[in-house]
Amino acid sequence: MSSHSGRVALVTGAGRGIGRAMADAHADAGAAVIYLDHDRELARAAAEDAAKRGAKAVGLAADVADFAAMAAAVEEGTDALGPIDILVSNAGISPKSGVDGRRADTWDMDAAEWRRVIDVNLTGAFNCVRLVAPGMRDLGRGRIVSTTSVAGRTFCDIVGVHYAASKAGLIGFTKHLAGELGPFGITVNAIAPGRIDTPLMRGTAPEANEAARLATPLRRLGSPEDVASTCLFLTSDAASFVTGQVVDVAGGWLMT
Ligand SMILES: NC(=O)c1ccc[n+]([C@@H]2O[C@H](COP(=O)([O-])OP(=O)(O)OC[C@H]3O[C@@H](n4cnc5c(N)ncnc54)[C@H](O)[C@@H]3O)[C@@H](O)[C@H]2O)c1
Repeated sequence: MSSHSGRVALVTGAGRGIGRAMADAHADAGAAVIYLDHDRELARAAAEDAAKRGAKAVGLAADVADFAAMAAAVEEGTDALGPIDILVSNAGISPKSGVDGRRADTWDMDAAEWRRVIDVNLTGAFNCVRLVAPGMRDLGRGRIVSTTSVAGRTFCDIVGVHYAASKAGLIGFTKHLAGELGPFGITVNAIAPGRIDTPLMRGTAPEANEAARLATPLRRLGSPEDVASTCLFLTSDAASFVTGQVVDVAGGWLMT
């Protein structure tokens, strides 16, 4: 028996980067996995790779900010794999619309950009919980993990104010839901990554990433797998008494 056999996981932003590693970790630990991504081709390819390794997996396309699209995807995923008992809300964006891959200053920020970041990073997580929590309540068990950021806990000059606010919002969201859903056997935690080497991170000015690496006590960037292994712990039976926590996976960077 693998650690997650018999479980069904929905992972958002699973087409690449951290979400792909989290979804793959669950698939390789025996869970059936819904790979959900805005990008249909990435979602399909990731699920197909998992299926080739022997996992039950489906790749579905939806924008997490679109409640109706997410409702349809959850229904399709549940029909294919069964009731969802693990939700990993990971899809997120961090626009760097300033000069040379830097954040926009707040006084220059486009209001539509602010809204889109809040819609994807924060409302997207709400949409997922709204859709899967009733099923978890009926099962009497569940695991919810959201990807926040060290930038949600302290000032980080690399990101914009929309991103920091959305990730701080996810921390309040996590603690509130841990209280509300705990009596139904559902744990709710968040992971706060530091600088993790993904396509999103590579969209930032290289000097900023190098400065972050040098300021990281472990003197390296994180890998998606570093984050995925913590996620797999939080969704496992081994973490059954851990809830309402924000776990930094940051090599000591910022030590929030
Ligand atoms: N990479 C880092 O250094 C870092 C640090 C802290 C937090 N994070 C967070 O980790 C998460 C994953 O980041 P990453 O670095 O892997 O990013 P990434 O851009 O490499 O991958 C994100 C994936 O999410 C998908 N996605 C984006 N918007 C979506 C939407 N609206 N609906 C559905 N899918 C969507 C993308 O298509 C992509 O496949 C994000 O929430 C990000 O904020 C990343």
